Amino acid sequence: MMAQKKERDSWGSRLGIIMAVAGSAIGLGNFLRFPAKAAANGGGAFMIPYFISLLLLGIPLMWIEWTLGRYGGGFEHGTAPGIFHSLWQKNRFIKYFGVIGIFGPLVIFIYYIFIESWTLAYSFFALTGRYTTLLDQHSLRSFLIGFQGLQKNQYFNGIATAYVFFLITFLLNIWVIYYGIKRGIEKLCKWAMPLLFIFGLVLLVRVLTLGVPDLSRPGWNVSAGFGFLWNPDFSALKSAKVWLEAAGQIFFTLSVGIGVILTYASYLKKADDVVLSGLTASVTNEVAEVILGASIIIPAAFVFFGPVDIKLIAQSGVFNLGFVTMPLVLNKLPWPQLFGFFWFFLLFLAGITSSVSLAQPAVAFLEDEFNIKRKRAVSIFSIVSFILCQPAIFFLGRGVVDELDFWGGTFFLVVFATIETVLFVWVFGMDRAWEEIHKGPDMTIPNVYKFINKYINPLFLFIIMGMRFAQE
Ligand code: PFF
Repeated sequence: MMAQKKERDSWGSRLGIIMAVAGSAIGLGNFLRFPAKAAANGGGAFMIPYFISLLLLGIPLMWIEWTLGRYGGGFEHGTAPGIFHSLWQKNRFIKYFGVIGIFGPLVIFIYYIFIESWTLAYSFFALTGRYTTLLDQHSLRSFLIGFQGLQKNQYFNGIATAYVFFLITFLLNIWVIYYGIKRGIEKLCKWAMPLLFIFGLVLLVRVLTLGVPDLSRPGWNVSAGFGFLWNPDFSALKSAKVWLEAAGQIFFTLSVGIGVILTYASYLKKADDVVLSGLTASVTNEVAEVILGASIIIPAAFVFFGPVDIKLIAQSGVFNLGFVTMPLVLNKLPWPQLFGFFWFFLLFLAGITSSVSLAQPAVAFLEDEFNIKRKRAVSIFSIVSFILCQPAIFFLGRGVVDELDFWGGTFFLVVFATIETVLFVWVFGMDRAWEEIHKGPDMTIPNVYKFINKYINPLFLFIIMGMRFAQE
């Protein structure tokens, strides 16, 4: 009997995959991590290494991953081990390096989903008015640490509420991936992305029309808030840390360098374009980050806290910004319940469309390499990831999330990006790579990218990796 060709899942439409990749890219990173990083690392000057990294690393890696994914999909491999092996068949070991492309996303998934569950919880608390009457920093901070189970106080007497929201969020994620690529992920992203942009625009308009709430402090206005974020401190450019953080943010925000886009692109068809689609997804992410992400939280906080405190707030970390400062600002304005809901549900939509992408590589690996049916693969993934999530929940106060963020969201990213780039442009070969990228394209990449991909990109990655090692 002839071996039956396995039926792999696929995207329903081109718009579908672009939305899904943009959904993966647009996440908590755009609305919390980016403004905090920009404000803390030289304001407008941060944007110089940021855009250089986007052009020299982010977008080329996006194209590489889309191309490698589509190539691997042709051999029925949706994850890095199989794809790396197809690229370099003579090497028996390369597939083991590909394992990072499954574990890296899993490591991010297990803390990301917990934070995502806070956004769902706060959306609910906003609507029910549970925190919206709190009008000072201290109370909202107590509310947050009470909720996180770090302290028993008048708001919460344990982690139970947070755990219930974690369970709901976890099950929602599993539900989406259970339905697969077209009927699960694509469907989710097709309604979540437009909704996210609508909420983002509503909040943007709210911030732009803030005026001067405290007339005794005329300098505390929105344009000065934008100034705080955008006025460049050029001395920052001399700092290696700023460059590392900018490049790190580009990886994280675009979801590249970790294996996720490989998996999504493996469900493309051979003749599908990757050049224009990859570019469109990247540009969509940048609009959400540089326009929406930068225009909500920092300018709003500036108007209420002024030039001195905003620095402290920006440095106090992304959770404080998102879960203390922003609700505090909104509580001081009319309709705090509604705007609070917009803010937190925007974060939730951003979060869930990213977390499902972090889960998919592990599921695809089980399906493609072990011939396990999707439903079983999702069950196995659920059990394993559920267990792995527990330390992030119960040891939050001991820095587990920071530790996971360092390994998954920073370290693996650079290592994996370097391996896949070198493999593609040097082992597979730049000429073949160029040809592979340009199969069925709706746009041709400027030739200068041949040079960038071959020399600048690996060099940049090695420098970043070297600096990381030196720093740690
Ligand atoms: N890009 C997402 C964000 O900005 O929040 C986070 C992320 C998702 C990183 C998927 C990596 C990834 F593979």
